[in-house]
Amino acid sequence: MKEVPASHAYRLLEPGPIVMVSTTAKGLSNVMTMGFHMMIQHEPPLIGCVIGPWDHSHQALRQTGECVIAVPGLDLAETVVDVGNCSGQQVDKFERFGLRLRPARDVSAPLLDDCLANIECRVVDTRLSDPYNLFILEATRVWINESRKERRTLHHRGGGCFTIDGGTLDLGERMVKWRHLP
Ligand SMILES: Cc1cc2nc3c(=O)[nH]c(=O)nc-3n(C[C@H](O)[C@H](O)[C@H](O)COP(=O)(O)O)c2cc1C
Repeated sequence: MKEVPASHAYRLLEPGPIVMVSTTAKGLSNVMTMGFHMMIQHEPPLIGCVIGPWDHSHQALRQTGECVIAVPGLDLAETVVDVGNCSGQQVDKFERFGLRLRPARDVSAPLLDDCLANIECRVVDTRLSDPYNLFILEATRVWINESRKERRTLHHRGGGCFTIDGGTLDLGERMVKWRHLP
């Protein structure tokens, strides 16, 4: 076997789709790209997110305790990378990248109209934010945009390289122990 740096562990395990996180603080909305996230619990739905202090979004999340996690499709791939390579401290990313917004129901952060799905979230635990920049979020509402034609998601493998979601394998009939879950 060939050994690679331990720092590459995330390239093997990072499971979910790359997402964009929107925030609104002091009347200004912003968006960043995020790969480090995980589901923690079904009910209430809890999501762990790593958002570092190098991100302008970090302060916005701390100040407001609210954000939206948006799941982009393959058609937004370049935008996803570019959004994660500039800061809301310097640019209005919605204007620069022509991202369309619509108001969320529960939180001040906007929904991203061009994404496949949007999850409205509230921060419910910051105890791990200092050591690990890990915020525990509760999803309060989920919106699916059924009008998007391109439905393939992007999965970050590191260094700006992505796996593109392919076919679906539905083994639901074998999930006998977990029928009660949503
Ligand atoms: C593919 C990709 C994945 C990223 N994942 C994360 C992440 O999980 N957590 C994080 O803090 N920053 C992540 N970033 C970096 C932020 O998106 C980047 O620092 C961004 O400029 C922050 O924007 P802001 O300063 O407007 O908040 C990622 C960037 C890219 C391109």
